[in-house]
Amino acid sequence: MPLRQWKATDMTEVSILEKGTAIAVVDEQGTKRFHAIWLRDNAPDTGTRAANGQRLITIADIPAQTHITSARVDPGAGRLHLGFAPEGQEISFDLDWLRAHAYDHADNGTRRAPGWTPPSVTLWDSSLMNAVPSASLPELQQDETALAQWLGQVERYGFAKLTDGPVAEGALFSVVDLFGYVRETNYGRLFEVRTEINPTNLAFTGLGLQAHTDNPYRDPQPTLQVLYCLQSSAAGGDSMVVDGFAAARRLKAEDPDAFDVLSRHCARFEYAGEAGVRLQARRPLIELAPDGELIGVRFNNRSLAAVTDVPFEAMEDWYAAYRRLGEIIDDPAMEVSFRLDPGESFLVDNTRVLHARKAYSGTGTRWLQGCYADLDGLRSRLAALRAA
Ligand code: FE2
Repeated sequence: MPLRQWKATDMTEVSILEKGTAIAVVDEQGTKRFHAIWLRDNAPDTGTRAANGQRLITIADIPAQTHITSARVDPGAGRLHLGFAPEGQEISFDLDWLRAHAYDHADNGTRRAPGWTPPSVTLWDSSLMNAVPSASLPELQQDETALAQWLGQVERYGFAKLTDGPVAEGALFSVVDLFGYVRETNYGRLFEVRTEINPTNLAFTGLGLQAHTDNPYRDPQPTLQVLYCLQSSAAGGDSMVVDGFAAARRLKAEDPDAFDVLSRHCARFEYAGEAGVRLQARRPLIELAPDGELIGVRFNNRSLAAVTDVPFEAMEDWYAAYRRLGEIIDDPAMEVSFRLDPGESFLVDNTRVLHARKAYSGTGTRWLQGCYADLDGLRSRLAALRAA
């Protein structure tokens, strides 16, 4: 996003605070304070930053007693000139950049309630059924504006459908090619989802599955999954998704203590269903960042291992909360379902959105191919498209 929300004007003033340990930039929009140490670390001069943007200095290169000795606004150039001691340097900052990176906000501390999500995320329930995010795969391969919109929908809703793709084995990789790279696992570069006579994993049978996130027993877990339909002549077997963030927030609204016990204690997950594999991870069902941001939901009845990190006194509460979260996830009011026809697929944020399959009959066939990928590539591609 271009940094043009704010232009330095003759009204822009700067003052030095607290013996030079901070400054205050004041304009008609208000006051933003910046610390001397923060400014020095983020200086844009060629001694501090390489041409590719990477920092050339370490924290040890900045004197601990760094302070600002002079401050001058040049409104015509939109620059702020600051003198730093004891280094004796004058460094020029772009005021637009400073405003865009201000951290002196009222909500930039402890005021946000645990479970908050950023404005880029919209929580949803079954009412999204009328507006399932979807796009045409061939169109996205040719139109970067459409691609940015579709990736933005994955960021916002945690899933999106694709239509009009080829009906060909391996076509799911062309979905990942839109933004990133396949995450190969012990299931292979891709995995088949269809009826097998000797299933090693319940995903390969005709049973319906409870909504879940995939592979919580990996650390790190795969953060994106593609499911791509090649055959669907069997009755039923619709795909279904549930917003895990919406479920966690509903749990919190109903019972804050239940939300609390699931976010404060780690569960354990395991998959040891094939020879030579013993995948194990220790993570909470509801994961919060240190500032309370809701950053992950893990829910998978098949691979929950014996939970041993919840204190005896809290275990009954943990199970009651787990049960209630499961009931919320199973509530049809939370689910969005859709049919995948051959050549159609969907991409799901596996850190947030649970997916499921309704039961289907044994007559006819249903064949999907799946693979994993990661959110970092998707976010990078989206940010680069938006900056272009
Ligand atoms: Fe799955």
